[in-house]
Amino acid sequence: MTTTTSTATTPGPDLDPVDLSSLEFWGRPMAERDASFAELRSQRPISWHRPPEGMLMPGEDDPGFWAVVRHEDIGYVSRNPKLFCSGQGTQFQDAPAELLEASQSFLAMDAPRHTKLRKIVSAAFTPKQVRRLEDRIAGRARSIVDELLDHGDGDFVSLVAKRLPMGTIYDLMGAPEEYQESLAEAADLLVAINDPDVLQNLGLEDPLQAAGQALMALLGPALELAEARRRAPQEDLMTNLVQAEVDGESLTDNEIGAFFVLLSVAGNDTTRNTIAHSMRRLTEHPDQRAWLAEDHEGRARTAVEEFIRHASPVVTFRRTATQDTELRGTPIAEGDKVVMFYESGNRDAEVFTDPLRFDLSRDPNPHVGFGGGGPHFCMGNMLARTQLRQIFSQLLARVPDLTVGEPETLRSNFVHAVKTMPCSIRG
Ligand code: HEM
Repeated sequence: MTTTTSTATTPGPDLDPVDLSSLEFWGRPMAERDASFAELRSQRPISWHRPPEGMLMPGEDDPGFWAVVRHEDIGYVSRNPKLFCSGQGTQFQDAPAELLEASQSFLAMDAPRHTKLRKIVSAAFTPKQVRRLEDRIAGRARSIVDELLDHGDGDFVSLVAKRLPMGTIYDLMGAPEEYQESLAEAADLLVAINDPDVLQNLGLEDPLQAAGQALMALLGPALELAEARRRAPQEDLMTNLVQAEVDGESLTDNEIGAFFVLLSVAGNDTTRNTIAHSMRRLTEHPDQRAWLAEDHEGRARTAVEEFIRHASPVVTFRRTATQDTELRGTPIAEGDKVVMFYESGNRDAEVFTDPLRFDLSRDPNPHVGFGGGGPHFCMGNMLARTQLRQIFSQLLARVPDLTVGEPETLRSNFVHAVKTMPCSIRG
């Protein structure tokens, strides 16, 4: 490993010269980040870094983390939950226990509790269930495009990208239409708390205050909805949650709230950003767009996978080593944080030919956009794929000259998010 001036407060491995912990790194254009990850993949696939800047809970005793950047290693860490667990946190930064408890639900748990809680909602996300939702998703995609055509030019994120994921996840949960917009905004804020511009625009002092505000805006309506479903059950996920029993006990309000927050964050932002990034790529690559538009139905399967690979909307997830072990010969001590960088895995030349190329016919396309496999593999993957297929089917057929401009992106080491992006419906 390469040596640089160490700023860690406790002795540890040498810090890598590529500083994945600085907020500045996550404000750089994707192409520059790609170059740094390419260097890490080829020269230092397991590298050590100081704790990230902008931490919710900067701890003197936090030594830093290992970065895992190769596709194969992301798969290995994801599929070995006994060695690399989720129960000690899944974010690259530490956060207060109450915040994790209120927002992460089974994402930050290990078996057996993870298995039991995931099972309560997983039935709603099976391929069969998602096929049953497809007509509703297609109907929503059609209305979004009707309204885009009526409205004309504007911000692609608010006019198109955010609307389908928001409507889909909150319909599933049973949240009334009139709350959906403010719930989605709160879910967005929860993943944007490290961006100083976001905090400044909202007049918030620090990430912790922002997280508190976002959680309050999500938990209040979630618990009201839970109460309403206890009184009058419906066919929705909130009814499943209030009726569920785990080990003979109902879920507590805190557990129900955390479920709601997890599904809000996971279901909104990821798909929204994939739609936005993909529209940008289609604008930049008219040849690829024409190829897809020629036979959307026949070509959407491979196109959607390339949308996800290229966008890599989830940037990182973390695990913690449960015992002393090693990765590619590098010793990893029990308790060490191990962070997987999905955008790097998705550009690994060992797996993808010409990885930076946007190729909608790429097949096979074993990207790690939904995670590297294992028990936490994205539960909403089929739902996300269906939404992407439906919205681009409408956009390509009905707004053939739609183009988007330069996106304004969020500075984040967790999600690859587009805040706003101008669009023109006449090219
Ligand atoms: C393009 C869209 C999406 C992407 C790229 C994405 C990506 C991911 C990733 C990387 C993980 C973590 C995997 C791991 O730790 O191994 C995850 C987990 C999860 N995702 Fe998604 N996701 C997307 C859409 C959705 C949607 C629409 C939902 C619906 C609610 C959803 C629900 C979840 C849930 C509940 C988990 C936690 C699973 C667990 O811990 O067992 N995701 N997702």
